[in-house]
Amino acid sequence: MYAMIHPPIPFPLERWYARYETRTTHNLSGATVLPPRLDELPTPPPDLRLTYGYSHGHPALVDAIAAYHPGATPANVLVTHGSAEALYLLQRVLLTAGDRFVTPNPCYGALFLTGEEVGAQRIPWEVPWRDADPWESWDAALTHTPALVVVNSPHNPTGHTVSAADLERMAADVRRIGSRLIVDEVQRELQPDPPPPIFSMDPKAVSVGSFSKSFGLPGLRLGWIVADPAIIEACSALRDRTTICSSPLTEAIATAVLLEAPKWIARSWAMTAPNRALLEDWLADQPYLRGVVPEAGLTAFIRVWMQWPTLDLCDYLAETFGLLVAPGDYFGQPGFVRFGLGNDPNHFADGLTRLRSGLDAYIPRTR
Ligand SMILES: Cc1ncc(COP(=O)(O)O)c(C=O)c1O
Repeated sequence: MYAMIHPPIPFPLERWYARYETRTTHNLSGATVLPPRLDELPTPPPDLRLTYGYSHGHPALVDAIAAYHPGATPANVLVTHGSAEALYLLQRVLLTAGDRFVTPNPCYGALFLTGEEVGAQRIPWEVPWRDADPWESWDAALTHTPALVVVNSPHNPTGHTVSAADLERMAADVRRIGSRLIVDEVQRELQPDPPPPIFSMDPKAVSVGSFSKSFGLPGLRLGWIVADPAIIEACSALRDRTTICSSPLTEAIATAVLLEAPKWIARSWAMTAPNRALLEDWLADQPYLRGVVPEAGLTAFIRVWMQWPTLDLCDYLAETFGLLVAPGDYFGQPGFVRFGLGNDPNHFADGLTRLRSGLDAYIPRTR
């Protein structure tokens, strides 16, 4: 008798990428920028040995991350396998069955799926990205006495940002109800006048960061948690069973990258700025999609004007035109598609031409 398999709650967006990402030629949807090539990156020391790394991260990287979060010391830092692992560990150690926790709606699944899996109930905070009252849904969500509140700014998929003053208010609200605030800041640098990290504004709050987004290096698979040392220790103890440590090789590259942060962030801006303009022009000149390209972040969330089934539409575009725009269904918002703004602008422009052909040709299929 074989043991039963207990499948995890699926993460449909990432399953969809697993199905199509390597089989399509034009990815107009990814929340990242075109990464630099290895020969454009700082060279790791030639005498580096690929041992197991340090449990909390290489001390040089931990120091650099602490310095990047004013008020933090190395005891506040855990280097993780991308922010995906950071979010997993935090939900595992901060939530238990029967808890409630607040997350943005719509939102990227890694912000809530682990919490749901441990038996906590997700309370949506409706992101006020289309002129909604900015506080009504927030105030209502906090009345549920959540054990944890997760915010993401700039927000994937809408590009909505929370100002420094509003983050202050959120941190104060969450403290007042005796809860804990996590801010997913993986795109923090990709907004005009970024606020400080939340940990620097409130040392009881938790910053989650990554090399994948603003720094354009998802293949390093490195992120971080900056938090109270008790949280760091609990996450580190759990990490002994997930990834143990990070790779000394990628940590060496990441340390050099973080020490030159403005250069890599400027590179990401240089990639997204022309694509924002390209998408705006393209949107103005076709009948199918309507929406505003946000000023911040790596994604735009755009309405399909034709009442088309967006899951089917996105599968069709992937299968027939080799083109990815992500279905809003995977963010709980059928009728929308997500664009990613970080690809090479020539590739992005080509992809938009191809998208127009795909939309012209599309006839909804019933499944
Ligand atoms: C908001 C958000 N948080 C976290 C992640 C995970 O990224 P990584 O594990 O590469 O840092 C993503 C990836 O798309 C994301 O969009």
